This record gives sequence, C-alpha cells and structure tokens, in this order.
Amino acid sequence: MTTMLHAPTRTQLAGLKAALFLLCLVPAVRLVLGWQADTLGANPIETITRASGDWTLRFLLITLCVTPLRRLTGLNWLLRLRRMLGLFAYAYGCAHFMTYLWLDQFFDWMAIAHDILKRPFITVGFAALVLMTPLALTSNAFSIRKLGGRRWQALHRSVYGIAILGVVHFWWLVKADVREPMLYAFALAWLLIVRAWWREVERRRQLAASPPVPAFKGKVIRIVPADK
Ligand code: HEM
Repeated sequence: MTTMLHAPTRTQLAGLKAALFLLCLVPAVRLVLGWQADTLGANPIETITRASGDWTLRFLLITLCVTPLRRLTGLNWLLRLRRMLGLFAYAYGCAHFMTYLWLDQFFDWMAIAHDILKRPFITVGFAALVLMTPLALTSNAFSIRKLGGRRWQALHRSVYGIAILGVVHFWWLVKADVREPMLYAFALAWLLIVRAWWREVERRRQLAASPPVPAFKGKVIRIVPADK
C-alpha cells in the first residue's frame, strides 16, 4: 500500500515522540494523584496492582499493533515509536511487580518465593516479566549492531510468547468473569493470525519469485584424486 501521509520531519517526529511519552505517562500519573488524594477506592493497593497489570498488557498489545498498522497504512515511520511503547510495557510491568513486592507483600521474600513457585498465575506473570527483561535491555541500536539483525529479531519475536503469558496470567487470576481476559485473548489471537498470514504470503511470494532450478541433463563425471 502506498504511503498515505508524508513521513514527519525530524522535528515533527521528536514532537510526536514527546507527546506520546506524556500520553503513556497518563495512567501512572492518575494512579499517583489518586493515591495522594485517596480516591483509589476501598483497596487502593489492589487498584494500583490491577491498573498497572492492565497497562502492562495493553502496552504490550499496542506495541504488537505497530507492525500491522505500518503495513496496512504504509506509514513506515510508525516503527520509530515502537521502542518507546515496548519500554513503557516493561516500565508498567516493573511498577506492577514493585507494587506486589512492596505494598502487597512488604518484601516478605519467603512469601514471595512461595507465591512464585506455588501459585500458577503468579508463576506465569513472573515468567513474563523475566522474559521481557532481555527485550528491554536490547531495545537499542547498539544491541541490534552487536547481535546482528537476524538474532535480534529472533530474540524479539519472543514478545508474542510473553503476551500469551500475560493473557494466561490474567485469565487464571479472574475467578469467574473471564470477559476481560477474553477480549485481550481475541486481540492477541488476531495479531498472531495476521502475522502468520503475512509470513505465509511472503514465503509464497519468495518461492514464486525464485527462478526454477533447471533439470540436469548432462552426464555425471566423478573426479577421483590421482593418488587413489
Ligand atoms: C512478577 C510478575 C508479576 C506478578 C507477581 C504479578 C502479580 C499480580 C497480582 C497479585 C495481580 C492482582 C490479582 C488480584 O487482584 O486478584 C495481578 C493482576 C494482573 N496482572 Fe500481574 N503480575 C506479574 C506480571 C504481570 C505481567 C508481566 C503482566 C502483563 C503482561 C501482568 C498483567 C496483569 C493483569 C492484566 C492483571 C489483572 C488486572 C485486572 O484485574 O484488571 N502481570 N498480577
């Protein structure tokens, strides 16, 4: 598809990134202000844990939307915003974990270890956060150069697995009403299907483009070294 909008200039892109940065901070600022004003409801710790968990998953899915959106619209510069969105997913994930460690468990390491090992939804959430760490650490130009494009891409493909773990984590913690995690599951399934479909189309296109190998019609001559 052709580009529908002109690529922004450097200054416009910087402005866009600054605006997006502020927008991504809104949920965190609302929680901090709500905590200070004591308007987070009867159980503010639960409110913070849940909101930060929600935003971790939302930012993960928003990050995964960038590539399909770029392909559908032809707006290649959207890729320049992806790293920030991914890093916000990680930042909210860390805030979510810190809320749990600090406000929920009061750094009781035995209880935390017990939870991670014995409560499946915590195990899965923890695994997701651990797996997000190398992605956050390598989301810079230096790491792409150091790892090489192919290896970097292979590593960053794990983001789909991480998003699956995030949805499973949410699904397992809700006791009865699975409507909300189901919405995330549908969104993620759609992203995965679109990606698999595009890969298949690309594979077929490459197969069709590569010239057929001509059938061999000559004689086979075996070359034997002289000393044998
Ligand atoms: C060390 C890692 C993690 C721990 C210990 C953890 C723990 C928790 C806890 C205790 C809750 C609240 C459960 C309740 O109120 O009944 C929760 C909710 C949630 N967490 Fe996590 N979590 C972790 C990582 C993650 C990650 C990486 C994601 C996203 C990818 C995530 C997404 C969510 C979501 C969506 C909720 C539900 C929010 C809601 O009820 O609306 N969590 N988590």
